[in-house]
Amino acid sequence: MDRLAGKVALVTGAAGGIGFETARLFAAEGARVIVADADTTKGPLSVEALRAEGADAAFVAADVSDDEQARAMVDFAMSTHGALHVLFNNAGIMPADDGGTLETPVSTWDRVMGVNLRGVWLGCRHGIPAMLESGGGSIINAASIVALMGAATAQIAYTASKGGVLSMTREIAVEYARRGIRANALCPGPIDTPLLAELLSEPAQRARRFVHIPMGRLGQATEIAKAALFLASDDSSFMTGSAMVVDGGITAAYVTPEDER
Ligand SMILES: NC(=O)c1ccc[n+]([C@@H]2O[C@H](COP(=O)([O-])OP(=O)(O)OC[C@H]3O[C@@H](n4cnc5c(N)ncnc54)[C@H](O)[C@@H]3O)[C@@H](O)[C@H]2O)c1
Repeated sequence: MDRLAGKVALVTGAAGGIGFETARLFAAEGARVIVADADTTKGPLSVEALRAEGADAAFVAADVSDDEQARAMVDFAMSTHGALHVLFNNAGIMPADDGGTLETPVSTWDRVMGVNLRGVWLGCRHGIPAMLESGGGSIINAASIVALMGAATAQIAYTASKGGVLSMTREIAVEYARRGIRANALCPGPIDTPLLAELLSEPAQRARRFVHIPMGRLGQATEIAKAALFLASDDSSFMTGSAMVVDGGITAAYVTPEDER
């Protein structure tokens, strides 16, 4: 119940999905949480819901792809609580027109890179000085299993952005390893959140995806939140620069079990 007691945690993209469940768990473990999101309607409502459960939570509006807004988001944490110990760069997008190498519009590539890759970098760029001032901390960057293996259905910009997040996280981990800051990448498989809802709304497409998951089901946002908690807390004190895979066995499988087909 108190693995993050006394800690200040900033979670981007925490108005919904994985970010919301993580903010919720971090708060239940004693953290003071900052919910950062570009959605200014859902963000405050999510904070209200967290507070109703007894959480110490506050909302800050921020588009993580914007340098000034990313700076302001970290400044908000520092001015509200005077410290920043945990930073979960979780905000990410997966636009419908992000597809094959030849078909994906350049504007979509730029938008995805702006949020998923530059957004993570900007979070680190502004979060790291605040963490150093706070005596160190833990950064968790949202990658994906597509950073580790290719998908049959291409989403070229999304995949490239997550590969970038993973390699950048390793670099940051090495750069700050002796200065009290750990940085790890989380690599989830398919998780049941609004991000995937559209992609999996069609039953045949959903069934086709499930074939590739040894466990035969999607993950839940709460299952990713628990992995994020491990990385955020001192339980993972000797881990930095790693890619934590939480994927129902996908990356372990060459073929899926016969009886699940
Ligand atoms: N759901 C999955 O299957 C899955 C799998 C692997 C990795 N991930 C990654 O996990 C992270 C969270 O995914 P999710 O499924 O919870 O997504 P989601 O769509 O449910 O939630 C994402 C949140 O990010 C916010 N957001 C979007 N753009 C933003 C921006 N520019 N600035 C600030 N906030 C912004 C949205 O408003 C939303 O609240 C993403 O980085 C995603 O790529 C998800």
